[in-house]
Amino acid sequence: MEDKWWKDSVVYQIYPQSFKDSNGDGVGDFKGIIEKIPYLSELGIDVIWLNPIFESPLVDNGYDISDYTSILPQYGSMDDFKDLLDVAHASGIRIILDLVVNHTSNLHEWFLESQKSKDNPYSDYYIWKDPKEDGSAPNNWGSTFGGPAWEYVESRKQYYLHCFAKEQPDLNWENPALRQEIYNMIESWFEIGIDGFRMDVISLISKRQDYPDAPDDLAYTKSYYVGASNGPRVHEFLHEMNEQVLSKYNVMTVGETPNTNSEQALLYTNPERNELDMVFHFDHMHLDYGKYGKFSDIRYKMSDLRQVLSEWQEKLAKGWNSLYWSNHDQPRAVTRFGDEGKYRLESAKMLGTLFHMMKGTPYIFQGEELGMKNVPFESIDSYQDIETKYFYEEMKNQGESEDYIKRAIYLKSRDNARTPMPWNNQIGSGFSTGKPWIDYSPDNKYINVQENLSDDNSVFYHYQNLIKIRKNYPIVVHGDYKLINKDDSNVYSYIRELNDEILYVICNFSGEKINFQLEENVNAEVADLLLSNYQDSPLLFSGKLELRPYEALIYYKK
Ligand code: NOJ
Repeated sequence: MEDKWWKDSVVYQIYPQSFKDSNGDGVGDFKGIIEKIPYLSELGIDVIWLNPIFESPLVDNGYDISDYTSILPQYGSMDDFKDLLDVAHASGIRIILDLVVNHTSNLHEWFLESQKSKDNPYSDYYIWKDPKEDGSAPNNWGSTFGGPAWEYVESRKQYYLHCFAKEQPDLNWENPALRQEIYNMIESWFEIGIDGFRMDVISLISKRQDYPDAPDDLAYTKSYYVGASNGPRVHEFLHEMNEQVLSKYNVMTVGETPNTNSEQALLYTNPERNELDMVFHFDHMHLDYGKYGKFSDIRYKMSDLRQVLSEWQEKLAKGWNSLYWSNHDQPRAVTRFGDEGKYRLESAKMLGTLFHMMKGTPYIFQGEELGMKNVPFESIDSYQDIETKYFYEEMKNQGESEDYIKRAIYLKSRDNARTPMPWNNQIGSGFSTGKPWIDYSPDNKYINVQENLSDDNSVFYHYQNLIKIRKNYPIVVHGDYKLINKDDSNVYSYIRELNDEILYVICNFSGEKINFQLEENVNAEVADLLLSNYQDSPLLFSGKLELRPYEALIYYKK
């Protein structure tokens, strides 16, 4: 049962603890989100994705769930959540939640029971293995947040697997009773009326049952990928979930799929296979990775970005793409892919243009529509994130200079995305009257909602226009994607085609003036300007342009 409404939707991601605090405790909440629904309606989005809102000891900011059926009190009550759902629905906005079922918190009742003995009803809900003869861990896998992926428990004299923190034990999807519990839980949320799920690290749920060692030369952290990503039964499990529960509701699903290439992604998203609607891949996120994974100061190359994104556009023609620059795990897009300095506004709009005109469902992470940049925290103590803290220590232990470490953290820490949403330039940024759970960005004084709304040329209004174009021109949703001018080293341009309509999208990724000339084999029709990020861009396009720094243009011809 579905009508694929998610194909012409734009999703807005809310990080609940940092969106809007209504009661002065320094943490965002449901009432705060309700207050801001009119703001989201003005932007024009269709769907809100909320990061986890469930009971949690917050070791990994809610990705360690201790009860899937109750709400974390700091966000409000179940009734407050239902109010939010009603208010959003009344404004034509749907809500999807975060489904975190690769692991739970170690304080989840299932785990508390499971760890007691080898023969209780929950003993096989998690992945337990005997030690090797010498007492060491079953294999050499390293976890995401540092150290081994196995933790020993005396009461069972066994190790349990945790791909993330040791407080996040992995669930055993081989166990049909566990799977049934999860499907029932999903169903109970659909009955409450939510409109879908983003599925956390869903490509990791099926583990190779031989639990092979990772090759020695693989980076220690995340070496569990060898036996945990896109494992032998992952498609079987998702198909089963689809059959038993997803297919019965008019909902959307987006799987977060680390370590998944476009061919594997097609297996998840091909509608004929009845698994998921779309996935988040990481190929464009990996373009600036270095020795410590994301914590590097390497700058991506536009030509690599273009190659990766085009590949996904082409390979997923039969499936569906999710289009994202940033989220709660990534730094701010304008710092990473644009220019956070002189051309912050132009490049933020250019990046929005590139993705919003592509085929797929665009995701806007809160604050991206304001052109927010990374956070210049003075002190390392301002960072709260478990991943940042681990890599800070790791880089220090490896002898990296303070300077390098600070730069890598400034460029890549997840906290860049997690500071409170700046609603205005007052004390508290219009976010809270209390002490915020994480420091404000000092940039809030000039990058905020109030300032964006009062300026016709703001990033906010550019995003609003991009969404309007998606709503008014079916070619944006349905047209075929074709990369053009493949060899241009500064300009990423592509066309969309639908019957006899054509849409040209031309984005200058450089801070220089560039002469652009459409390559010969592309039809140079006289096309009309739909949107640009400069006020006086040429109204007609017939193949030639002089582009200004970060200029982004959309032309349309019927
Ligand atoms: C991906 C989530 O987006 C991230 O925030 C979290 O730390 C891990 N999965 C573990 O759940």
